[in-house]
Amino acid sequence: MNRAASHKTGSQPNGIMSSPATIPETHRFDPNFTQLVISATGPKTAPRLRKVMTSLIQHLHDFARENEITVEEFMAGIEFLNEAGRMSTDVRNEGQLLGDVIGLESLVDEITYKLVSEADSTPTATAVLGPFWRADAPKLEMGASIVHNIPDGDHTFLHGTVHDYLTGEPIEGAELDVWHTAPNGLYEQQDEKQKEYNLRGRFTTGKDGRYSFYCLRPTSYPIPDDGPAGKLLKLLDRHPMRPAHIHFIVSAPRYKPIVTQIFDRRDKYLEDDAVFAVKDSLVVDFLPREGDPKAQFELAYNFRLATFEDAQKHSLTGATDGTTTLATGNTSGSTI
Ligand SMILES: [Fe+2]
Repeated sequence: MNRAASHKTGSQPNGIMSSPATIPETHRFDPNFTQLVISATGPKTAPRLRKVMTSLIQHLHDFARENEITVEEFMAGIEFLNEAGRMSTDVRNEGQLLGDVIGLESLVDEITYKLVSEADSTPTATAVLGPFWRADAPKLEMGASIVHNIPDGDHTFLHGTVHDYLTGEPIEGAELDVWHTAPNGLYEQQDEKQKEYNLRGRFTTGKDGRYSFYCLRPTSYPIPDDGPAGKLLKLLDRHPMRPAHIHFIVSAPRYKPIVTQIFDRRDKYLEDDAVFAVKDSLVVDFLPREGDPKAQFELAYNFRLATFEDAQKHSLTGATDGTTTLATGNTSGSTI
């Protein structure tokens, strides 16, 4: 007996067994309703939007039917989203945070950037942007420090090369946009005591593709948990911690930009990231640095980029073309 039949078969009040041929469970609700809603989409709708919205409506309706969502539960969900909206400002992106704690941004990141390459090497893996990136970080000279007025941090010399993942050639004119938190776990826009744009900077490579700058060895920190995302984590019996990491956006003319993070191998939250962003290839080892009064640690890390052409040749849906930009919708907000 299938599930629908088991639901619908049983004793009638008069003691007579009902027939298994009663209405199937899937037809307990109006079987035509979802199609009615989908069909309301007009002919001028863009094809991609039509496809995505048709799928979204279908999945949401199925979700509601499968879980028999009540009006009270629907209203609680709507209020949850409204609260996230009210809480969002130009320095706080609660909606994105919600997407992150349920793993949606990490999944979309994978879908967008995964390359199916037959080559031995692959471009540097990507990771979520998160809600704390800010546009227009200061452009700095190579070798400069992004650290201001934090004498007690683990100062680190970070350096490496940006190169083509297929040819290995260094990439001239590549820009690294980098940001991380202070040792107190706060990004500068969350912390009145930090100078604006502290622990952020942009660096542009020369002919040799090399980059270098001073930063801090990163610190694990909780994502903001005083809003709906935090409430959800508590309800799901989860912690808000992220493993220590440094964020990067690496871009260059003719190359597909990457958004990524590197993670400190010593961090205890590496296996248990609140936003599911850790990838093995992004876990790094900071080493002690000798003879440099400006840093106690050092990290060498190379970035591998794919040209737009190679990215299109080898990628799944989501491959970019030359017109694609980092459409983050998050120009002054927050990164995780
Ligand atoms: Fe972060």
